[in-house]
Amino acid sequence: MTRFLTGQSSFRPALAAVILSAITTACSGADALVARGEQLFDTCAPCHGDEGEGDEVLGAPAIAGASQWYLNTQIDKFRSGQRGYHYQDAEGLRMRPMSRALIAEDEDIEAVIAYVYSLPIPDPPATFEGDVATGEEDYLLLCANCHGRDGRGLETLAAPSLLHLGDWYIASSLRKYRDGVRGAGGDGFGANMRAAMTGFTDERIDDVTAYIMTMQRLPRRAPAPPPPPLAPLEVDPAILPEGVTVAMAQEGQEIFNGNTGICFTCHLREGPGGPLAPNLTDDVWLNIDGEYESIVDIIMTGVPQPVEHPGLMQPRAGMPLTDEQVRAVAAYVYTLSR
Ligand code: HEC
Ligand code: HEC
Ligand code: HEC
Repeated sequence: MTRFLTGQSSFRPALAAVILSAITTACSGADALVARGEQLFDTCAPCHGDEGEGDEVLGAPAIAGASQWYLNTQIDKFRSGQRGYHYQDAEGLRMRPMSRALIAEDEDIEAVIAYVYSLPIPDPPATFEGDVATGEEDYLLLCANCHGRDGRGLETLAAPSLLHLGDWYIASSLRKYRDGVRGAGGDGFGANMRAAMTGFTDERIDDVTAYIMTMQRLPRRAPAPPPPPLAPLEVDPAILPEGVTVAMAQEGQEIFNGNTGICFTCHLREGPGGPLAPNLTDDVWLNIDGEYESIVDIIMTGVPQPVEHPGLMQPRAGMPLTDEQVRAVAAYVYTLSR
């Protein structure tokens, strides 16, 4: 690996340009991008480590192992001041100027991210002594809906993978979200994460962190294990309102419990509800009367200001659902409580 810039305090654009243009002509397309990113990465390595594995003493987390979309959003947030904005955020304040000084051009960001993504995924040792059983309870109830039961993350919710991170960094980030030192810079996804940390003590943070470290560190590119299959939906056609068919409810079952509708991420599989969204299987309705058309309407409009739950529900859950798909998923929701 070439490390011609290591040990120099400032990046030398002229020299870099000559070498980069030589590299660009030698390789093509994606390879050229990664090669260019490798040169740029020399400026990140002093803090994030030669392999992007992180450095606890400097407070710089592992970045190898993160998804490209996540690296992109975080670099953007540092550059725009949505992250690293708080005077108590020593590490964020260390990274924020780097995001501007070291990666000035948008193409540079793309290149350095392509290189970071090509690095091996780190597998940091667990160093915390927390109560793993308590941590697991919290994780499954409060975190798994967004970060996945396996900790791999869910891009549709902007929730990153947690599997490459050291425990010292996980715990420090969780305290920052709780205290408004991170995630209160004016972005909706950071606010979602903050909402999840409401009321956490330091001890519960240590416990949930200890649990995260027990998760299997599978490579990020391996497909997630498939969820157990859904029980076939049995519906008595007599209970359905006019114009609604059993086939619609069955289609809706797939939408609700799969990645088309992502309803399960908040209402949980088959709708029992959780900390982020209400139970849809009982006859209690918070915002509507529970008739079929009222269910269609609320899925179309979302719930910007929930009655009892933190966060919100976006129109069509923020997914590109057609009107037919909304009517199908509403048919399924209608059957859940009847
Ligand atoms: C002076 C040290 C330093 C340098 C140089 C540096 N970083 Fe960072 N970086 C940090 C620290 C410290 C954090 C953690 C901030 C926090 O705790 O919120 C961080 C955080 C990040 C994050 C967020 C990771 C996450 O899991 O949320 C990304 C992405 C990142 N850096 C990318 C880079 C890239 C790419 C470069 C090189 C162009 C770079 N950094 C150079 C210190 C540095
Ligand atoms: C509503 C969805 C949601 C829930 C619930 C949620 N998270 Fe997050 N989490 C996110 C999002 C979105 C981000 C990225 C926010 C940002 O850009 O700062 C995030 C970021 C994080 C990070 C920082 C990762 C990094 O590389 O810097 C950690 C650690 C984390 N979450 C752990 C947890 C834990 C533990 C819980 C449960 C107590 C939890 N999350 C619950 C959505 C969620
Ligand atoms: C990001 C989390 C989230 C997602 C994803 C989500 N919801 Fe919701 N949902 C909520 C919240 C929050 C409420 C309002 C609860 C309140 O008022 O306290 C709600 C309310 C509802 C209601 C009305 C319940 C009542 O008692 O008033 C229905 C029906 C519903 N959602 C269906 C769906 C369907 C169908 C999907 C998928 C297309 C979905 N939701 C996706 C969070 C979510």
